[in-house]
Amino acid sequence: MASTATNPAGYQGRYAQSFQLFLQRSTEHKSIFGFIDRILQDEFPSLGDGKSTLNVLGVGSGGGEVDAHVLDKMQAKHPGKSISADVVEPSSELIQNFKALVAKTPNLENITFNWHTMTSSEYENQVKDKKEAKRFDFIHMIQMLYYVEDYSATIKFFHSLLKQKGKLLIIHESANSGWEILWKTYKEALCSNTISAYQSAGDIKVHLENLGLKYEEHDIPNTLDITECFIEGNETGQLLLDFMTDKPYFYEKTPPDLRAGILDLMRNKCSTERDGRIIFNGNLTALLIHP
Ligand SMILES: C[S@@+](CC[C@H](N)C(=O)[O-])C[C@H]1O[C@@H](n2cnc3c(N)ncnc32)[C@H](O)[C@@H]1O
Repeated sequence: MASTATNPAGYQGRYAQSFQLFLQRSTEHKSIFGFIDRILQDEFPSLGDGKSTLNVLGVGSGGGEVDAHVLDKMQAKHPGKSISADVVEPSSELIQNFKALVAKTPNLENITFNWHTMTSSEYENQVKDKKEAKRFDFIHMIQMLYYVEDYSATIKFFHSLLKQKGKLLIIHESANSGWEILWKTYKEALCSNTISAYQSAGDIKVHLENLGLKYEEHDIPNTLDITECFIEGNETGQLLLDFMTDKPYFYEKTPPDLRAGILDLMRNKCSTERDGRIIFNGNLTALLIHP
């Protein structure tokens, strides 16, 4: 399924703010860090081709919190090696946050960063224009594929940048998560802004199989507290709804019947109630793709 919308600037302004709120209200980063600590870091010792530098590429890295965690663990598994980290992220605002994080994190001081403030397709075009492409020991695309025009072609391109023993990690919303139920039920209403064809990790697995790529799959349980979305006039809830629906000012701008239907689905089909809170199923799937 190809999407037609493009999002050249990535997350900016009110949308970047609603993303920060989403991160505060969800267990997303904590859950991803748990996956890195429990499973992913054991893959790191086998990376590298005998050279003294490891090349890592983050695509759609946002404010870099997950990248920083990955790089910290990778450094610990390869003491004495240097790391060159390339970052592809179109949002100048989030790149600034990432740079500020690097500046205040002592463990990252020996890592060389190369910043590419651009979309993944702009990076792809840039690489294709050059004669020789930089190759990587580890590439990750965490919660960003929603925004590309062609999932399969994007995965194929980034996989082609791996060194012989390199690995590609995709973390994406799971099949049957609240996200898939919401976005596939209301695809016509929702897929009209920066995401024009929603796909879950279930759809990505089909792309990987069609591309003949071997992968390992890991579940990353994740939740999001959306209680405030159901309190009329609550600003936090409205900002969170903007992020969840990819619609600026969703609450004010959506026709009341459609809004009521979406809220009802979110509450009754995508969430469970716990201690009076409404907890959205934000489960994630990690797909670790071999060379
Ligand atoms: C949900 S955030 C994930 C950020 C980060 N990976 C994390 O897990 O915290 C999605 C990121 O993808 C970026 N993005 C949006 N469109 C993109 C594109 N076409 N190419 C690369 N990144 C994009 C956004 O600016 C944002 O930083």
